[in-house]
Formats: sequence, structure tokens, C-alpha cells
Amino acid sequence: MPTRAVYPDLADRSVFITGGGSGIGAALTRAFAAQGARVAFVDIAAAESRALVDAVAEETGRAPLFLPCDIRDIPALQAAVAAAGAAHGDVTVLLNNAANDERHSVETVTPAYYDDRMAINLRPMLFAAQAVLPMMRRRGGGSIVNFGSISWKLRNGGMPAYTMAKAAVHGLTRGLARDLGPDGIRVNTLLPGWVMTERQKALWLTPAAEAEMLAGQCLKIRIAPEQVADLALFLAADASGACTAQEFTVDAGWS
Ligand SMILES: NC(=O)c1ccc[n+]([C@@H]2O[C@H](COP(=O)([O-])OP(=O)(O)OC[C@H]3O[C@@H](n4cnc5c(N)ncnc54)[C@H](O)[C@@H]3O)[C@@H](O)[C@H]2O)c1
Repeated sequence: MPTRAVYPDLADRSVFITGGGSGIGAALTRAFAAQGARVAFVDIAAAESRALVDAVAEETGRAPLFLPCDIRDIPALQAAVAAAGAAHGDVTVLLNNAANDERHSVETVTPAYYDDRMAINLRPMLFAAQAVLPMMRRRGGGSIVNFGSISWKLRNGGMPAYTMAKAAVHGLTRGLARDLGPDGIRVNTLLPGWVMTERQKALWLTPAAEAEMLAGQCLKIRIAPEQVADLALFLAADASGACTAQEFTVDAGWS
């Protein structure tokens, strides 16, 4: 394992992660807890989330706070942000990570399905930011990281409502960065490439797909969730204190 940077200002920081129970989100939960941060996360995968809480508590001596919540329910999401603040102090790092990349075709997508994709992949980002705003203002600043995707940059098909939502994340980041900059709140987009979570491996990783990935990437590697978490740590920490309204990519040079 490569050495991980330590950011002393992240110790005791109150961090809120959407979808922190599995996949890249689990790597985020682990990485921030290992920095000594107070991590709260929402997820719908209850069993995986509870197992992660136990594992992280054993690894770091700090149990993250799992708040079961479907982020499509905005009042529930905002209540979870409030609960995190009550338990850990004002949230000053928000990682808008949760998403769902379910495949669908342009021929069959319905308005209801479209609305549901936006309700998972886009809408919660704005309303989670709205909920943390008073806390970040009270503390004189904060960092919001919105998770995008290189899929739309690669012109990937087969999930138009997902790629549409992921492209819109950049508009949200840049608009919010302007609005919140005077309060010392930074907002950035983090774009993962193809990251080898258990879900990705189970659903999509075939020899042909991997060959295409390796041909496209400059670096001939499989990207690990921990490598995305490393960038999220940097974007959350004071080390990136002059970075806002930007996009940062972990894709081994594919896009
Ligand atoms: N893994 C990749 O290759 C990849 C590539 C590009 C972008 N991304 C982006 O990175 C982020 C994390 O990706 P991932 O691969 O870990 O995703 P994932 O699907 O494996 O995990 C997302 C997490 O969010 C949770 N979640 C899903 N719907 C939810 C809901 N309605 N309410 C609450 N929680 C919910 C899931 O249970 C899961 O724990 C996403 O924003 C994704 O779009 C991932």
C-alpha cells in the first residue's frame, strides 16, 4: 500500500458523506476516519453500512455514524445532516458521493424514470449543500465535493439520464462556488474514472471492457477506490485552500 498523506486539520472535522456505506463511499468513510475526522454517512445499503461501521471502529478506534436514509427524500436527507451536526459538531466537509449508474435506453426512458435518476444523481447535492450552509457559515468556511464522472466526457451511451445528471454536476459546482466563496466555502467536482469497486467488478468488468479501459488510459492500472479517497482528502483539507469551482479527475489519463 502506498503511504497516505496525513492532513492534521482534518482531525476532529465533522464530515458528511452521501452513499458512504459501500463502493467509493466506503473508501471515503475509511479514509476520513483514519485522519481522525468525525464521519457521518447516509446510505440505503443497511447491512453493508453496519458492517463498515464495525470494521472502521476496529481499524481506527472511531465508529462512523450511519444514518439510514434514502437521499431521494430531501427532508430525510436534511434531517440526517442536522443529526450529523448535532452528534459531531457543525459539518464543514460535505462529500456528495451517492449515485446510481443503472443502464437505460433512450427509447424506453419515461418521465418518471428520468425524475428518479435526477432524484438520486443530482437533486440531493443541492439540498445537502443547502443544509450544511448555516453550519459552514458559522465555522467561517468549509469544503463541498460533488462527485461527477468521466462517462459523459467519453461519450458513453446506455444511460442518458445518468450522463446528463453527471454533466450538470459541473454547473452546480461552479454556480455554488460563486455564491458561497465569500463565506470561505469551497466547491469542487471530483471525477472518478473507472474505479474498481465490488459492484463495478460484479456488473461490468469483462476482459473486453478491461482491454478497452487499458487502451484508453495512459496508465495501465486498475484504479482503486482508495485512490479516489486520496483526492477527496486533499480537496477537503486546508491544503487545497485556494481551489474552488474546479474539476479534479482520477482516471489514469483516460478522458
Ligand atoms: N465506480 C466508478 O467506476 C465510478 C465512475 C465514475 C463516477 N463514479 C461516481 O463516484 C460516486 C461513487 O460511485 P460508486 O461506484 O461507489 O457507486 P456505488 O453505486 O457503488 O455506491 C454508491 C453508494 O450510494 C448508495 N446509494 C445509492 N442510492 C442511494 C439512495 N437513493 N440513497 C442513499 N444512498 C444511496 C449505495 O448504496 C452505495 O453505498 C458516484 O457519484 C458515481 O457516479 C463512479
